[in-house]
Amino acid sequence: MSIVSTSINDNIAVVTIDNPPVNALSHAVRDGVSKALSELNNNDTVNAVVIHCAGRTFCAGADITEFGKPPVSPTLPELMAEMDEFSKPLIAAMHGTALGGGFEVGLACHYRVMDGRAKVGLPEVNLGLMPGAGGTQRLPRLIGAEKSLEMITSGKPIKAEKALSLGVADLVSDDLLCDAINFAKDKTVRRIRDLKCDAGEELFADFKKKIARKSRGFLAPFAAIDAVKVACDLDFDAGIEFEREKFMELVASSHSKAQRHLFFAERQAAKVDGIDKNTATRDINNVAVVGGGIMGCGIAVNFLSSGMAVTLLEITGDAANAAKQKIEKIYASNVSKGRMTDTQMAAAMNALSVTTSYDDLSDSDLMIEAVFEDMNIKKEVLSKLDNVAKDGAIIATNTSFLDIDEMATATSRVSDVIGLHFFSPAHIMPLLEIVKTDNTSNEVIATAFKLAKKIRKTPVLSGVCYGFIANRMSSCYGREAGLLLLEGASVEQVDQTMYDFGMPMGMFSMLDMAGIDIGVMARSKLSDDAYDKRAFSVHAALVDAGHKGQKTGAGFYEYDGRDKKKHALVEELAEEFAKKYNIKRDDISSKEIEERCIFALINEGYKIVEEGIAQRTSDIDVVYAFAFGFPRYKGGPMHYVEHLGLKYVLKRINEFAAKYGDRWWRPSPLLVKLAEESEENV
Ligand code: 3HC
Repeated sequence: MSIVSTSINDNIAVVTIDNPPVNALSHAVRDGVSKALSELNNNDTVNAVVIHCAGRTFCAGADITEFGKPPVSPTLPELMAEMDEFSKPLIAAMHGTALGGGFEVGLACHYRVMDGRAKVGLPEVNLGLMPGAGGTQRLPRLIGAEKSLEMITSGKPIKAEKALSLGVADLVSDDLLCDAINFAKDKTVRRIRDLKCDAGEELFADFKKKIARKSRGFLAPFAAIDAVKVACDLDFDAGIEFEREKFMELVASSHSKAQRHLFFAERQAAKVDGIDKNTATRDINNVAVVGGGIMGCGIAVNFLSSGMAVTLLEITGDAANAAKQKIEKIYASNVSKGRMTDTQMAAAMNALSVTTSYDDLSDSDLMIEAVFEDMNIKKEVLSKLDNVAKDGAIIATNTSFLDIDEMATATSRVSDVIGLHFFSPAHIMPLLEIVKTDNTSNEVIATAFKLAKKIRKTPVLSGVCYGFIANRMSSCYGREAGLLLLEGASVEQVDQTMYDFGMPMGMFSMLDMAGIDIGVMARSKLSDDAYDKRAFSVHAALVDAGHKGQKTGAGFYEYDGRDKKKHALVEELAEEFAKKYNIKRDDISSKEIEERCIFALINEGYKIVEEGIAQRTSDIDVVYAFAFGFPRYKGGPMHYVEHLGLKYVLKRINEFAAKYGDRWWRPSPLLVKLAEESEENV
């Protein structure tokens, strides 16, 4: 079948796009639709045209791989103009996810019929873009400026029923093509471009304020608001021109390049060497979670929300019931925020059982331990799980740091043991580090990736090393932040610098939130040469003094409810330890702070790749963006190197090595090699 084909029945033509996997609007598609429409315009036997897609979805947008290349006619806006001018009723029959340019095709049509399970949306902001094929001009004319701003700046798609109630869809159907053809029979041409939209000035200023926090640092959502304002202020053609100009600026911006990089990096991360669609996987329906702390409960929620049965094990009946209540509380909060219905909550809670007996876990397809971070305790739990597990059950650990190869020796089935490392809060944070040991079977790895998709996590494969990808990198950043404190930077200065860089919060605010004691305890089990004791000396002293972070009212900051202020003790401790370790204190520039923290991440990232812990550098970007909020418009630490230049990064790392010693700053050989091969100028 060709990419675009036409059939005519009873004076209604159906133009079918067939461009797997997601019917992206590549040049071949645009060209095919354009030619089909011009033929049908001149065909007197045709009264109306339905545009429809084969496969799993209506067009999911412009072809992202074409961005950054010279535009080839017909461009999407040119095609949309042809659709607008089309002399006969044009009906979009949309199923699956009609997103971005796909939804804009729908908006350029005169009517929209949606499959009952379909969604439409304008997710361009997720790619650092705004709609660029009429979306910012047609949607406000159809549903008003305010609703359009919500859809465009959030990037979130809406379901068919909502689309119907907003007037986006004219009909919702269970028999899409048949109903769309019947619908087309008595329609007349109706163009959205002829509608008017109106909104007060203040709506746009208020909207910019409303999204200021969430969209801090991003360009696209603010540009989109300006474009919607233009839809209210100017005529359609002027609006389209404005939209095109802004869209092209965004396509060329470093933001969009970075966000497009992450889009493909996320999909690439799901590809594992040696595993393909033919690799066998196991069915996971019953999940056991051992440990009812915050982590265990968050983990359980993922599976319950995805329709799986969960048995949660705790040591005592009271602890088990407390865990159940914690899970209930998470769901109650979701219901109160309108994220789920009472019925959905009841279904999830019904699928949960709690127990204190390992025997009750014998039916589980997957068992995940989320107990205290201690090798002996974890081994004991794994051994108990191994005793009751049925053949083929997967035994997983949620350890953040520990050696899973060693842990697996507590079981009789090393090939069935894997790390599933969730990030707190586990029911919200999108990343799942899948940690394979030397012995984990491909079948178990493939199952873990399939499962990640089911519970809507972004999976990244890691090998075993202390801290895996995420925490190993984070501890390098933490080390530099800690040393900077001794060298004269303040907690506030370090945090503000990293916040201004685009991180959601600085390292010290993050430690206060998570609890400083967790890291202090983890490091207490390490040998002295495994980490830089100086860097974490203030941390340990704070914990000794009972200041463990927000939970104790003080840590690196002092807290009064949500307000935080300087904690004088930290400065005293920094001075004391600087003296002890003979570190000279001085003024430190924000540039030095930013480069020390970020370049430590980058250097470690390259080491992680050269050691084979991560499969590729882009996986590291996914980890750092999805687990720690590295600004997506910078694409992750490894993509950010492209912006800075490899040679510059290496030069600075060499300077840091000369100044601070090469114990931590020894440049990664992979970085050295890439910098040498690079043709960029310093
Ligand atoms: N262009 C090019 N390739 C695309 C694409 C697009 N718009 N959307 C998806 N793909 C590719 C993916 O990279 C992936 O390729 P791979 O198999 O080689 O890794 C393949 O299609 C399948 O994608 P997913 O793995 O994501 O499949 P899912 O079924 O999980 O999800 C989806 C489907 C919801 C459509 C998801 O792919 C998606 O969100 N796509 C992007 C949608 C989007 O952002 N559209 C707007 C584009 S920008 C635009 O339209 C500008 C316009 O205003 C001018």
